[in-house]
Amino acid sequence: MTFDLFDTLPPMPEQFIGARSIVLRGFAQAEAPALLAAIDLVLAASPARSMITPGGRPMSVASASCGDVGWVTDAQGYRYAAIDPLTRAPWPPMPPALHGLARRAATAAGFPDFAPDSCLINVYAPGAKMSLHQDRDERDLAAPIVSVSLGIGATFLFGGLRRIDPAQRVMLGHGDVVVWGGDDRLRFHGILPVRDAVHPLTGRRRINLTFRRAR
Ligand code: SIN
Ligand code: FE2
Repeated sequence: MTFDLFDTLPPMPEQFIGARSIVLRGFAQAEAPALLAAIDLVLAASPARSMITPGGRPMSVASASCGDVGWVTDAQGYRYAAIDPLTRAPWPPMPPALHGLARRAATAAGFPDFAPDSCLINVYAPGAKMSLHQDRDERDLAAPIVSVSLGIGATFLFGGLRRIDPAQRVMLGHGDVVVWGGDDRLRFHGILPVRDAVHPLTGRRRINLTFRRAR
């Protein structure tokens, strides 16, 4: 019998990146095909589009939402809206597969009873990025953020509570889930420009799902 070192490693290691911040490696990997099928249906109804920042710049990611409300940005600012400004219809409902994953990930990270009412879908083509920011448009900051990475990889920046605080660089791959909340809820975070790659399930795309309790 041969002894393989890797057989002794846990299959799903957790990595704390803050006292209340954790990377659940591969947590969504097994269900990724079902998640992507559900995401395709959402995006068929509410297409991912580049939104305009309050400063007038188009974002490099293409975004859409599902759930009771969706995060939007335009010249009027950042906010949650029940109506998709592109289709002028309500956002598609949150598919049960997405809601269930978010709840299980939150529970695994020490936040039981997470009831997300909004899921932002960010589609990154090679070169797209997300500048350092806080998620602070939600009414109740007691609920955590659950962030799911699918497709090609990216470097996640995880900073502190002040913009000037140094940021950790965390590689995120297909199926990784990051959860942060509690005293870490308002930590700055972002994504470095995505490098070109191909993933068998998403092609040359990274898809991020961000689940939040917005209202
Ligand atoms: C975000 O903070 O809105 C997106 C983070 C990510 O794409 O991983
Ligand atoms: Fe964010």
